[in-house]
Amino acid sequence: MRDYENNKGTMMIDGVSSVDIANKFGTPVYVTDEQIVRENYRNIYNAFAQYMPTEVHYACKANTNLAILSILNQEGSHIDAVSIGEVLTCLKAGFPAERIMYTGVNVSDEELAQVVQTGCRINLDSRSELERLAKITTDIPISFRITPGVASGHSEKVMTGGKGSKFGIPMNQVIDTYARAKDLGFDVKGIHAHTGSGGMTTDPFTDVVDVLCEMVNRIEEEVNIKLEFLDFGGGIGVPYRPHDPEADLNELAILITDTIQEETDIKTVALEPGRFIVCDSTVLLTKCVDIKEAGMKKFVGVDAGFNTLIRPALYDSYHYVAVANKFNKAGVAKYEVVGPICKSGDYIAHDRALPEMEEGDIVAVYCGGAYGFSMSSNYNSRPRCAEVLVNNGEAELIREREDFEDLWRHQIVPARLSK
Ligand SMILES: Cc1ncc(COP(=O)(O)O)c(C=O)c1O
Repeated sequence: MRDYENNKGTMMIDGVSSVDIANKFGTPVYVTDEQIVRENYRNIYNAFAQYMPTEVHYACKANTNLAILSILNQEGSHIDAVSIGEVLTCLKAGFPAERIMYTGVNVSDEELAQVVQTGCRINLDSRSELERLAKITTDIPISFRITPGVASGHSEKVMTGGKGSKFGIPMNQVIDTYARAKDLGFDVKGIHAHTGSGGMTTDPFTDVVDVLCEMVNRIEEEVNIKLEFLDFGGGIGVPYRPHDPEADLNELAILITDTIQEETDIKTVALEPGRFIVCDSTVLLTKCVDIKEAGMKKFVGVDAGFNTLIRPALYDSYHYVAVANKFNKAGVAKYEVVGPICKSGDYIAHDRALPEMEEGDIVAVYCGGAYGFSMSSNYNSRPRCAEVLVNNGEAELIREREDFEDLWRHQIVPARLSK
């Protein structure tokens, strides 16, 4: 978890007062520190690239803001995209098609044709998708996502690699599928798996790389295809709590690249971190609008609910909170930090020691850069919030706050109902 500078009781984000940002751009607002995005990308890329040729495919589902994508494009990142919308967004941000790999699940013919049109790389999730792609073209390099039988993650809802998962080619069909792709005339370049998201140990990664390496060799022996890249997916966990350990990237890189280089002739390792690159780059600033005591509980009502940050409500995820305008004050009481959504499950943080809270205080919710804005919604007819980018003492708007017109923009009321 990042430490933020404390300037006489105000939380500072790369030299800019968080309170000034809240006042200028309104709340709730996601505030991203550009240098942290760059640093995270460089750290993870360099950790692996010192041992073997590496492609970091940023899993853009974590955060698809065009400015953040543009930063990563400047860094030379590749992209893991899961929908045609993500592919087009990354192209709009300037990524060349060859640095985007599309891995869909339950992909329609229409979407497959659109993805082919963009010229990006395609990583296939099923035999059905292979057969349907062959009807569009075979003149395209492909790879396959396999189901490795290894699952990991911070919640069952984000575990993807276990046996019986909806994702990927089941282990007992992998060889046949590669053989079929070869028969169809495809140039098959790689193999991919993703075990899940947010696990904090190296085991799932080493386990999945073992499975992938074994498969690489079987594919070469049994189907005579020499694969060029091995992509072991994303999911590297990050510290959300003050004393959570950080991932040891160097240890992970050594374990993985040693195995790949000792066991196979694979030339390039690929990985797909989303959370690792953007999570701690961003805080969500939300204003305290209401204070209430009920029973034994003290509630801080803030203007961000699960419409703005759904992770606590959806996964019971922990996000550290601090009071940005009382940054040097210690916690004096335990509070429930809750939002404006009409559901009892709407909360941001449970049972947190905070300074004496007052209406108008600015609560900073840490680690909001991954699956924060990208999973936000208009639930309860609330316009989605703004996003701001901070760099070297300057704060710039990178997404305008929606207005009420945005809520109604695509709705049509049949004329007969307006009479
Ligand atoms: C296929 C795939 N790759 C990468 C990721 C990124 O995971 P994380 O953000 O935890 O690194 C996901 C997350 O859902 C995924 O499904």
